[in-house]
Amino acid sequence: MKFNNIKHKNLLQTAALLEKAAEGRPSKWRQLFHIMPKTGWLNDPNGLCEFKGEYHIFYQYSPFDTKPGTNFWGHYKTKDFITYEYLPPALCCDQNFDCHGVYSGSALIDEGKMYLYYTGNVKQLGDFDYINNGREHNLVLAVSEDGLTFDDKTLLMKNSDYPSDCTCHVRDPKVFKYNDKFYMILGSRTTDDTGEVLVYESDNKTNWRLVNRLRTAEKFGYMWECPDLFFLGDKQILAFSPQDIEAEGFKYNNVYQSGWAFIKGSFTEEGCTVGEFNELDRGFDFYAPQSFETSDGRRIMIGWLGLPDLEDYYSNPCEEFGWSHCLTIPREISFKDNKLIQSPIREYENLRESDITSKNQNGIKAFEALITYNNPEKTEITVHSDCKITYENKALTLSFGKSGAGRKSRSVSLESLSKIRIFCDSSSIEIFVNGGEEVFTSRFYPESYSGITPDENCTGFKVWKLKGFEYK
Ligand code: FRU
Repeated sequence: MKFNNIKHKNLLQTAALLEKAAEGRPSKWRQLFHIMPKTGWLNDPNGLCEFKGEYHIFYQYSPFDTKPGTNFWGHYKTKDFITYEYLPPALCCDQNFDCHGVYSGSALIDEGKMYLYYTGNVKQLGDFDYINNGREHNLVLAVSEDGLTFDDKTLLMKNSDYPSDCTCHVRDPKVFKYNDKFYMILGSRTTDDTGEVLVYESDNKTNWRLVNRLRTAEKFGYMWECPDLFFLGDKQILAFSPQDIEAEGFKYNNVYQSGWAFIKGSFTEEGCTVGEFNELDRGFDFYAPQSFETSDGRRIMIGWLGLPDLEDYYSNPCEEFGWSHCLTIPREISFKDNKLIQSPIREYENLRESDITSKNQNGIKAFEALITYNNPEKTEITVHSDCKITYENKALTLSFGKSGAGRKSRSVSLESLSKIRIFCDSSSIEIFVNGGEEVFTSRFYPESYSGITPDENCTGFKVWKLKGFEYK
């Protein structure tokens, strides 16, 4: 179906007007080296891919408000992760099958074209529970030759095509090629409130047949959002964002979780199961990560530096300036000693502007710090006087005072401490522990920027001022 229609043009024009109107707003807390739209709301990363020598980063975007709305796909592209081109929304809600949101999805690059698969969200008017009725989650495909214009949208599947014991919540297609076939996974909530992943297979990218359903041995949450399936060496890994997991000590403290598990067996084989769930992040703001493979063989993951439905827990005061949320910095993921390691992509070393280790750090919003240790009993780092990273009793804790806007503390058990690498922006902190074995990702809202001070228990300390992204 052609979507170069009046509605599409009007929505693009409205987005452009709202973005223009946002120019000149206070830059307080606006991020310097994180992907975010010019105005409004952002959530999940979508359609991450490398296409004709450029990386494309799409994201859930509503220019209309600082709250989740009828989301479009916002769009950036970059060659080096430092200089970005801000592009008009790639996909808008301009069809009956996606009129209440072009929801999350992924990109498949095949035979020189970009195939974007997403969920078209429709909420019918009426007295519905929107779980078992009143909602449509449609599988839609939009194809592009140049990665900039998406000439048509095709409705591929409707709720009635999914298994009959699924609720209306079946969404977030991740499509990939494996052994010369195409596969798609979808996150689903069954009518008995069990989260799972549906696995589909295709020979032609448009006709899909169900080949498997992936679950944990024991029920783990009522819905699995944003699934991702990828291969590292001989390991098959499923990443997903389950909902309704009870907190357990230091684990599962956020409203919703994001994590990964090994697939026991192969994802196409009946009887395979999803192994033990491991949280990807220990901070306050991380959700719905997606990954892609670069042409030089790296698996890069980007998450939403935020969470849905967090109003009851903490807030984001940047909403006052007309925007909320951004994406995390991209992380290269690998395995070491059966641990999933996340390291900031190497391109981020090019953001280093100057070494400010022994300089006055007052007023510097964007910096990277590297602090080394020889397994201390106890140590503490202070950031902008209000944020503390403390290691004590074999636990590492991130805590905030007022700058946390309701965020108090999160911890992880840690046998020993050797290294902490921090990326701090105007209103976020990402902490990579022991070379990326554990990560804490959080927003925070400092009123002043006084810099970073480790205590005397460290063995090495370096800080670099970072330059912000450049836009063309
Ligand atoms: C996850 C999510 C997805 C959905 C999208 C809508 O944050 O709920 O499941 O596709 O956001 O914006």
